[in-house]
Amino acid sequence: MEFEEVKDKVFRRFISRNQIDQVVQGIADQINSDYQGKNPLFLGVLNGAFIFAADLIRAVMIPCQISFVKYASYVGTTSTTEVKELIGLNEELNGRHVIVVEDIVDSGITMDHLLKELKNYTPASVKLACLFLKPEAFVKSFRIDYLGMEIPNAFVVGYGLDYDGYGRNLTEIFKLEN
Ligand code: IMP
Repeated sequence: MEFEEVKDKVFRRFISRNQIDQVVQGIADQINSDYQGKNPLFLGVLNGAFIFAADLIRAVMIPCQISFVKYASYVGTTSTTEVKELIGLNEELNGRHVIVVEDIVDSGITMDHLLKELKNYTPASVKLACLFLKPEAFVKSFRIDYLGMEIPNAFVVGYGLDYDGYGRNLTEIFKLEN
């Protein structure tokens, strides 16, 4: 399908299933060679990374574990500032080789926060596997160790990425029509 209507907006087909598969396999190949004997712990960031993480881990052939975390955003009751709290971290990270799995880095503010927070858990190492980066929007300086693709500064949906909660189920990536 060339166009998809998601909620009240029209999106155009942008990245094919085949391209996504190749990119995911490429990341898995690198991890398979870099993490031999290291028993990595993948840490998927919900909600957006659930499909990428599911495909990535099935292409990883070395012993590994996976867990998921989520940022819960809420407005504090005593102030109007937004509070972002990391939830779901039940695993012992101390001494582990952690690979954070994220769908997309836009400004990078969310991931910068997460990477700093993870250091408090004294992992042996932390690396980042990210499917998409929007370089034009990126304002931080952390390294993306395993990057799928750079994309233009446009809004995309599909393959786990949503527009207002919708569109995550699309199997390809669609870009907002302007
Ligand atoms: P950042 O903090 O600006 O890097 O935002 C990162 C988060 O915003 C991602 O984890 C996504 O949940 C969301 N996001 C950023 N760009 C897009 C997009 O194009 N489509 C859907 N979600 C996006």
